[in-house]
Amino acid sequence: MTTDIASTGGALTVDEMKADLSLEQLQQLVGLVEYDAESDPFPVTGWDAICFVVGNATQAAHYYASAWGMELVAYSGPENGNRDHKSFVLKSGSIRFVLSGAVSPDSDLIAHHARHGDGVVDIALEVPDVDQCIAQAVKAGATVLRHPENVSDEHGTVRIAAIATYGETRHTLVQRTVDGVAYAGPYLPGYVAVAPTWEKKEGDPQRIFQALDHIVGNVELGRMDEWVQFYNRVMGFVNMAEFIGDDIATDYSALMSKVVANGNHRVKFPLNEPAVAKKKSQIDEYLEFYNGPGAQHLAVATGDILASVDALRANGVEFLNTPDSYYEDPELRARIGEVRVPIEELQRRGILVDRDEDGYLLQIFTKPLGDRPTVFFELIERHGSLGFGKGNFKALFEAIEREQDARGNL
Ligand SMILES: [Fe+2]
Repeated sequence: MTTDIASTGGALTVDEMKADLSLEQLQQLVGLVEYDAESDPFPVTGWDAICFVVGNATQAAHYYASAWGMELVAYSGPENGNRDHKSFVLKSGSIRFVLSGAVSPDSDLIAHHARHGDGVVDIALEVPDVDQCIAQAVKAGATVLRHPENVSDEHGTVRIAAIATYGETRHTLVQRTVDGVAYAGPYLPGYVAVAPTWEKKEGDPQRIFQALDHIVGNVELGRMDEWVQFYNRVMGFVNMAEFIGDDIATDYSALMSKVVANGNHRVKFPLNEPAVAKKKSQIDEYLEFYNGPGAQHLAVATGDILASVDALRANGVEFLNTPDSYYEDPELRARIGEVRVPIEELQRRGILVDRDEDGYLLQIFTKPLGDRPTVFFELIERHGSLGFGKGNFKALFEAIEREQDARGNL
């Protein structure tokens, strides 16, 4: 599949440029496609930040630096006037995570964390024109949580608003250039630049992942189509692949999944709902332990998934196990054909492979990152494929079910 790079709609975000990512690299990493930004009612430049509420942000910041190779770049907390909570901002390539934990016993984050555990509270998007997006969102019936306002500090001004999405998750919309002047601070007004407290060891990769590919949302039974329509109607997102019923059913559990994406596919949201099956599905387990809908997994893109997995395992990150039978299946071998490394190299690491009409992808999933069986990560290396590993869903779900069973939740 060939794509005219010049017409993928919109330039790189400031953070993508700072991360030394070219549009060509980003296109390969996350599978961008052509689109006409002019006719987009809700133009999105890209991901701005993924904001987590966690039980202990101080320690979580250490984990994402020491295990995932992210770099601490900014901070807000009691030392600079934020007496409510601490927020640590970490980067890897063009991805920014913001980890927040309560300091004050009266912080609203405490009740949020009691309800949901560690999780994603805000999938913030960078947009070129906040007011245009909010006007479109209001017209389409979205709930506006924050009306557009300018926020400034000595580094300049950003324009911010927010809309509600599934569960207690929100999309903050961030316009980083206001009246022709780009905001120059380390993250947002109120944050100060800080030096990393964790130093990479010799031989560590410069980065374990470069970009964000997609974020999956788990929504209530019977409401997937409603959320698909929400993204269609409110944000002008288009429907991508669709997986229903037998595609992703095992003997025990089933789910339905549809994927929406912004025009150039830089921002992709698969949305899952549980489907009726013999036993409790992984989506049911998530909804029970997250106490409602929320972000299930974040897929991070890497140009070398083998090196990334090796580095992560060396740092103690645990992945779902893939049985040897997966690699020995002649049907799979025939379907995937040639990939860039011998299949034994994938097998040794438990990396899954899938192929479609556009190419192939390599992927692997971590175990849940926190105490509750909720949010986890996927690593993905794309080679032309614009899919999500549909051919792996059955093998993946069986692996998840073994874990669910071990937790007594199947
Ligand atoms: Fe995924």
